[in-house]
This record gives sequence, structure tokens and C-alpha cells, in this order.
Amino acid sequence: MSQIKVAVNGALGRMGEQVVSAVVADPDLILTCASDIRADKGNISVQGYDNRVPLYPDLATLIEMHHPDVVVDFTVAGAALGSARLALKNGSHLVMGTTGLKEADLKEIGELAERYKKGAVVAPNFAIGAVIMMHMASIAARYFDNAEIIEMHHDRKADAPSGTALATADAMLEARGKPFKYPRTEKETLRGTRGGQKDGVAIHSVRLPGPVASQEVIFGTLGQTLTIRHDTFSRESYMPGVILAIKEVVKLQGLVVGLHSLLNLGENNG
Ligand SMILES: NC(=O)c1ccc[n+]([C@@H]2O[C@H](COP(=O)([O-])OP(=O)(O)OC[C@H]3O[C@@H](n4cnc5c(N)ncnc54)[C@H](O)[C@@H]3O)[C@@H](O)[C@H]2O)c1
Repeated sequence: MSQIKVAVNGALGRMGEQVVSAVVADPDLILTCASDIRADKGNISVQGYDNRVPLYPDLATLIEMHHPDVVVDFTVAGAALGSARLALKNGSHLVMGTTGLKEADLKEIGELAERYKKGAVVAPNFAIGAVIMMHMASIAARYFDNAEIIEMHHDRKADAPSGTALATADAMLEARGKPFKYPRTEKETLRGTRGGQKDGVAIHSVRLPGPVASQEVIFGTLGQTLTIRHDTFSRESYMPGVILAIKEVVKLQGLVVGLHSLLNLGENNG
């Protein structure tokens, strides 16, 4: 099998840099080029990689010059749909890691992928452990009436609760088909102590300098609890998922949303 030609958009960002290194380290992939709106020189140098990797300030020029098999995008929500359009209309498959895409954006990406017979994988969380945690939580949800989620992130995170916490609660509720039991506290002496609540699932958000991302889902029933926990220690944690998506997307036509769809987890996906 010939190597898959990969381009990384947003290559100078925190995630982009990790993707560049992960692609270079995989013998089945070849990093042909990269782009970033902040690019001010013609190449990026990658430690331990002898090939010159051309760097462009815009994705359009990159695609015109190199026709990559796969464009991987880790940029900003406002740029993501434009990247998807450029990639799919010009013959590249798409792996989209940028978060914040709207339903309408996903619909358009799906239509473009079908029309141009290309694959698109859009995944808001490429950490395989997090996806499996959600899957396991959705299995447990059928057997426990009470559940709470504690998610922990760095103090610069803009939103609370995390998208993963909400998606976990959604997956648990869907698997269960009814709300969880939510024990009302008679007197909350400090307002907000019981966290937020989604259909009976209490969600607590911890924000501290230090952690990258962690989540615990705690189920309770008579005389027992079950805790499912996932910890992300560095952005490297996302790379096995990104590499898997690159290798799978070239076999697809159409849109796949969420890494779970590529992991053969069975019907009860989180
Ligand atoms: N899917 C996942 O598992 C996952 C994990 C972590 C982060 N993310 C998401 O990935 C995205 C990037 O995160 P980050 O931490 O690397 O951010 P970052 O700010 O470190 O990097 C973003 C990069 O994109 C570049 N950029 C911005 N607009 C651009 C454009 N129009 N064209 C080309 N490049 C452009 C910036 O110059 C920057 O280098 C965010 O949306 C974040 O939420 C997804």
C-alpha cells in the first residue's frame, strides 16, 4: 500500500504541532505539506525528519500545489467549514478536529462528501479512552438509576460543563431511554453545590491550573457504586485517534461524526 499523503491545517497550533509529529512518526503516512494562517516562512522543520515540509499561510494554495489525500484541520471554529469545503471540493478527504461546528455545518460537510465521493471524519474528541469511557457509561446507564459526572479541566477552559460531559450525559440518557433519578437536597446551604443537572444527571465542573482533562462518571444503586474514569495528561492522547481517522477516512465516502463510529464498539455507542 502506498503512503497516504497528509496535509495539516493549523500546523503551528498546539494540536497541529502534535499532529505533524504523529504523522511523521507513522510509516504508512507522509506529511507532504502544512498550512497555518500565522505562517511566515516557507517550511516547517520537524525534529528527526529530514524531508522539507512546505508551509503555506492558506489552505487553498496548499491544496492547489500538493493535492493531499487527506487534510487534517485543527484551527478555529470560524475557519473550519471553509477548510472542509476547500478539501472536499478539491479531491482531498477530511479529518476535522476543530470543535464548535454547528448542525448546519455538519449537514453541508456530509452533502459535500457524498457529492465529491470523499470521506469526512468530524470528531470533537479524538482521545480513544474518552470515547470508550462514554461507551461504557452508556452501557452502565441501563442498570443504574442514579448517576453523576465530575469533569476536571485547566483553568483557561472557556466553557462549563465540557462538551464531553454533556455528550456523555446525552449518550447515557439515550441508552437508558428515560431520565435518571435526581435526589433533591432539602437545604443547599451553598448555592450550586449540587452542580448542574441534565435529566437527572448532576454535572460538576472543576477548573484548576494543572490538569489537561479528566472525567469521572459515578453510578450508584443500593449498596454499590460504579466509577468510570478517564484522564488526559497531554495532547499526545489525541494522536492515536487522529492517526486512526486518517487511515480510515481514505476508505470512506460520506461523513462520519465521532470517533466511536470508527471503533466498532457495537450498537450501544457513546
Ligand atoms: N477533536 C479533538 O480531540 C480536539 C482536542 C483538542 C482540541 N481540539 C480543538 O482543536 C482546535 C485547535 O486547538 P488548539 O489547542 O491547537 O488551538 P491553537 O490556538 O493552539 O491552534 C490553532 C491554530 O490554527 C491556526 N489558524 C487559525 N485560523 C486559521 C485559518 N483560517 N487557517 C489556517 N490556520 C488557522 C492558528 O494560527 C493556530 O496556529 C480547537 O477548535 C480545539 O477546540 C480538538
